[in-house]
Amino acid sequence: METAIAREETPIKKQIQIRVTPPGPNAKKIIEMDEKYLMKSTKSLPIVASRAQGCFVEDVDGNTYVDFASGISVVNMGHVHPKITAAVEKQLKRLWHFAGTDFYYEEQATAARMLGEITPGKFGKKVFFTNSGTESNEAAIKVAKTHTKRQQFIGFIGGFHGRSQGSLAFTASQPIHHKGFFPHMVGVEHVPFPNPFRNPFGIDGYEHPDELVNRVIDYIEKWTFGTYVPPENVAGFLVEPIQGEGGYVVPPLNFFKELKKIVESHGQLLIMDEVQSGFGRTGKFFASEHFGVVPDIISLAKAIASGIPMGAIVVRDDLDFPEQGLHSNTYGGNVLASVACTATIQAMKEEKAVENAAKQGEHLRKRLLELKDKYDSIGDVRGLGLMQAIDFVKDHKTREPARKLRDSVEYKSFQNGLILLSTGASAIRIIPPLNITSGEIDMGVEALEKGIRASL
Ligand SMILES: Cc1ncc(COP(=O)(O)O)c(C=O)c1O
Repeated sequence: METAIAREETPIKKQIQIRVTPPGPNAKKIIEMDEKYLMKSTKSLPIVASRAQGCFVEDVDGNTYVDFASGISVVNMGHVHPKITAAVEKQLKRLWHFAGTDFYYEEQATAARMLGEITPGKFGKKVFFTNSGTESNEAAIKVAKTHTKRQQFIGFIGGFHGRSQGSLAFTASQPIHHKGFFPHMVGVEHVPFPNPFRNPFGIDGYEHPDELVNRVIDYIEKWTFGTYVPPENVAGFLVEPIQGEGGYVVPPLNFFKELKKIVESHGQLLIMDEVQSGFGRTGKFFASEHFGVVPDIISLAKAIASGIPMGAIVVRDDLDFPEQGLHSNTYGGNVLASVACTATIQAMKEEKAVENAAKQGEHLRKRLLELKDKYDSIGDVRGLGLMQAIDFVKDHKTREPARKLRDSVEYKSFQNGLILLSTGASAIRIIPPLNITSGEIDMGVEALEKGIRASL
């Protein structure tokens, strides 16, 4: 693999270049080693990365790809962003870790202040730092229980909130997540999400959004609270503004305002999980801003430190834990992660990344809708900003998921130089870095179209 080392000195070419059909010989060796030493998780494509810049990734065989996955919506400012890299490099020589839950340093307080500034709500806020999305949700659960002194919660069918035993109790996007793991945290009841494309009520939510919202609200009030869950036992609702792992599902615009009325009428809390939809992805800093609601607790991770592991919850300051010792961890607010978080927010503001996500999101959507017009198997194009998905169907009327076709498109597009991730039953998400250009989007969409053609 000397050639890979020689290539380090040259910048990555900003174009797709497939020299050897992937996975190439170097990739195959590493995949073999990975399979020998690593436990099974959720691997989807046999791409073995060597280095990356912006929205381009080079693999160990010298192939270059456009990245429409962003490390699962983590490198929102693109790979190895120069300003974020410089900030972390500088910090590496000063202080790495000091246990921010137990001692003090400025970098953590600065990152917390900046998160409070960019999150919705003009009130005092407090932050608790974690290391991942699932831990952020665990912290949110504890805050809600402590504050309300209530034990039950409501989650949504199709939601994803992580895989530890508390957040897993809310996760309801695929049965495999639960297989053999019951019982997890008790006290979570699920209600339908207003999924306009596929929902248990058989309502076309694009044509009849109000009817869909009313059915869900009715379900919660009349059936869930009316027959078996006393609302005064419920601490709060945990919900994604746009369901991520459940298939990039955007609810009708008025849904969260209606939900907030229920929440407030019962003295509950609205906890919004913006682990995947936050940090500029949808063309606003947070997806909840599209829906005109301010959550009581916002749960974050993924993009907040551009790939240095970090999560956080941002809460109204009156929701702070009443005493020290109720919750803590070792790595939360780690110095390098805090510096990366601050540098990420600064770079996003300086480079107007959120505005670019809104603008390029329009362009991406237009290109995807053109594909939908051309290929009958694409049943839906949905999303906001640069959080888009295309859904493959066997039949336009029944909207039956075409899972095999979707998987094939993902693989064939990869062989044509595009990195994609599937989501839900039959969708592919399209989540490039927020600072992508229209030309780079076009490059990726062309590879996607080749993938579709090769799969039909
Ligand atoms: C909305 C949402 N919440 C929580 C999580 C869990 O995050 P993590 O994998 O960092 O634990 C994810 C991960 O995909 C997510 O999309």
